[in-house]
Amino acid sequence: MDQSYKRLFENNRKWVQEKLREDKNYFNRLSKGQKPEFFLIGCSDSRVSPNIITGAGPGELFIHRNIANLAVHTDLNFLSALQYAVEVLKVQHIIVKGHYYCGGVRAAMTDDYYGLIDNWLMNIRDVMRLHEDELNSITDDEQRFRRLVELNVIEQVNNVKGTSVLQKAIRNGTAPQIHGWVYDLNEGLLKDLKIT
Ligand code: CO
Repeated sequence: MDQSYKRLFENNRKWVQEKLREDKNYFNRLSKGQKPEFFLIGCSDSRVSPNIITGAGPGELFIHRNIANLAVHTDLNFLSALQYAVEVLKVQHIIVKGHYYCGGVRAAMTDDYYGLIDNWLMNIRDVMRLHEDELNSITDDEQRFRRLVELNVIEQVNNVKGTSVLQKAIRNGTAPQIHGWVYDLNEGLLKDLKIT
């Protein structure tokens, strides 16, 4: 039986030793609580781990991940994380982080049958319909794919803003800033879509 997962435990032990060497109270301090500045909504893709690509350590990012970084109004999981981030943790920034080469976005652009996930991908097909004219005007397939990734981020930022959680915070003057970013995993760089 393949026991490749044991590598993860070994790495974990090494990491603990390293952290304790730097600061023997490291874990003790983390156990007291969290006060992250950022709530990040990202894709589940294994290549885009927010902590790794931003160098953020434990305690810095409150994260919600799903396929294609969607902020869906009927998703109780997302809404709960959002409410906790805004009302309890009082984060200063909410970031929707999409990424080029997103398999979820790519799948939404095809007519292929994937099963249950097709219902989830309907949210991206809604984005396509909203921006049909712009997308149809792009003749290059790769460019259209990249633009849809960006438009999806923009629409998810709008979705976050439209939630009851954000509307209440805006009314109270306590709303965090909402940002839309795209990660280019071909070069490793984050791009700010500047739609704050
Ligand atoms: Co993705």
